Amino acid sequence: MVLLDVENISKRFGGLLAIKDVSFSVATGSIKAVIGPNGAGKTTLFNLLSGLLLPDAGTIAFKGEPIHGRPPYQIATRGLARTFQHIKLFSNMTAIENVMVGCHVRSRAGFLAGMLHLPRAGQEEKEIRGRSRDVMDFLGIASLAGSEATSLSYGQQRTIELARALAADPVMLLLDEPAAGLNMRETADIARLILRVRDRGITVLIVEHDMSLVMNISDEIVVLSSGEKIADDKPAAIQKKPDVIRVYLGEDDA
Ligand SMILES: Nc1ncnc2c1ncn2[C@@H]1O[C@H](COP(=O)(O)OP(=O)(O)O)[C@@H](O)[C@H]1O
Ligand SMILES: [Mg+2]
Repeated sequence: MVLLDVENISKRFGGLLAIKDVSFSVATGSIKAVIGPNGAGKTTLFNLLSGLLLPDAGTIAFKGEPIHGRPPYQIATRGLARTFQHIKLFSNMTAIENVMVGCHVRSRAGFLAGMLHLPRAGQEEKEIRGRSRDVMDFLGIASLAGSEATSLSYGQQRTIELARALAADPVMLLLDEPAAGLNMRETADIARLILRVRDRGITVLIVEHDMSLVMNISDEIVVLSSGEKIADDKPAAIQKKPDVIRVYLGEDDA
């Protein structure tokens, strides 16, 4: 079954067509990767999917309903969560408090009630703390709960970001370069965690430069080059495509 269906989307920044008439779909329960050289439009694509940018043309359907044109919080509430290429954790907050922020997109009382300490927020706060602890436990980082988030290692901060996205109880996760800046062991750890997330029934769309990670965990791969989709296939087929090889040999930092 198709969970996310992207049809003919385009996005222009002034004179630059950053996404050109891109279509693809993501099957429920699968891991799909988006790869391509720097500047190919991968983050722009994620910003379109999560509602941070509006497409100039095309449609995006999630669970069979159009989501393009909806604000980010509504898309998140429907079950589409994301992480960012550049880590965005709150400093002066503990790891678990950062994870709890993720729960608030789904909470009944909502983020504002939580901040204002309205009556209903008390009980809910406890539930949210418990849920955040469960997610951290699932990812093997429960022992970091009380540490100041930004004092932790880069790999640990990336895992906290993943925890925060999972705390929203998503149907689908968008991961923008989750292994960027990680060493080989940390990359292997993240790969293992992404597979566990998928095994929990959460569909994953991942942007990643680390080819061995992408080839190992993805069911399908979309290749973008200068905003255009040049391939969309299973990993083994992608590795053999002359167009894809040309794009990768032609660049320094993929
Ligand atoms: N907000 C923006 N305004 C103008 N240009 C942008 C903006 N965001 C991205 N771009 C440009 O769009 C192109 C695609 O960028 P991006 O989506 O970040 O690529 P990738 O994530 O594949 O490296 C780049 O040329 C980038 O400079
Ligand atoms: Mg990017």
